[in-house]
Amino acid sequence: MPDYVTRAQIEEAVALIHSRIHHQPEFGLVLGSGLGPLAEAIEDAVSIPFADIPHFPISSVQGHAGRMLVGRLEGRSVLVMQGRVHYYEGYSMGQVTFPIRIMQLLGIHTVILTNAAGGLNMAFAAGDVMLITDHINLIGMAGQNPLRGPNDESLGTRFPDMSQPYDAGLQAAALKVAAERQIDLKQGVYICLAGPSFESPADIKFLRLIGADAVGMSTVPETITARHGGLRVLGLSGISNALSGPGVMQETSHAEVLAAGQSIVPKLTALIRGVLRVA
Ligand code: HPA
Repeated sequence: MPDYVTRAQIEEAVALIHSRIHHQPEFGLVLGSGLGPLAEAIEDAVSIPFADIPHFPISSVQGHAGRMLVGRLEGRSVLVMQGRVHYYEGYSMGQVTFPIRIMQLLGIHTVILTNAAGGLNMAFAAGDVMLITDHINLIGMAGQNPLRGPNDESLGTRFPDMSQPYDAGLQAAALKVAAERQIDLKQGVYICLAGPSFESPADIKFLRLIGADAVGMSTVPETITARHGGLRVLGLSGISNALSGPGVMQETSHAEVLAAGQSIVPKLTALIRGVLRVA
């Protein structure tokens, strides 16, 4: 696939999905590293392997199963991406955000993006869940914005507004559910880096200084594409590891990221179910 995805390619993928599903999905859900088990909650699921979908990028990362499920959760029709591809795997931004374009042309109005992230905020611990209130598009500032290239006006405007990337109503709903369920939902700014190497102590200091609370390697390109396409976005980060304080050296490993998912999944599941009931 060239760097820039065309509407015709998205339509081919959508046609295959339409041929397999029985109802119109309303909500999209993207499951991050270690969060795949959340898909077990989906009822009446039709499973579509990513490999069956024309032009679809296939992930090479452990912890990403690589299939789409369309089914019901809390009575809502949901399309679940069990796994995503990342820029660090070598895919173009067009490929990374292809699933969001599919959701857009399928008529999905709301997408819930989840990820595993490193906690930069000193008040965060591994196993916490953070509501993404805003993001820093560091990877985009460095030139890798998913909207770079020709703009198809039928998909969205050339210069989309980004004054409220994460929907205020959905954030309020998530906070309400958290309060009712006594889930300690943190809030903060997510920053997206290219990866795949984890951060050095000086990187971490810099990221904190510029106002980030959690760091990861996904989500922001998807949010920008979703907003370009007019979808509402809710973002939730599972804090898989707390990044060491100043002067403290601590290793980050992918195994740690996957293990923390196990304590994060029940909280995320409760939050997402609660939001779907009212959204
Ligand atoms: N850094 C970047 N991405 C991550 C981390 C981290 O510490 N943990 C999970 N994803």
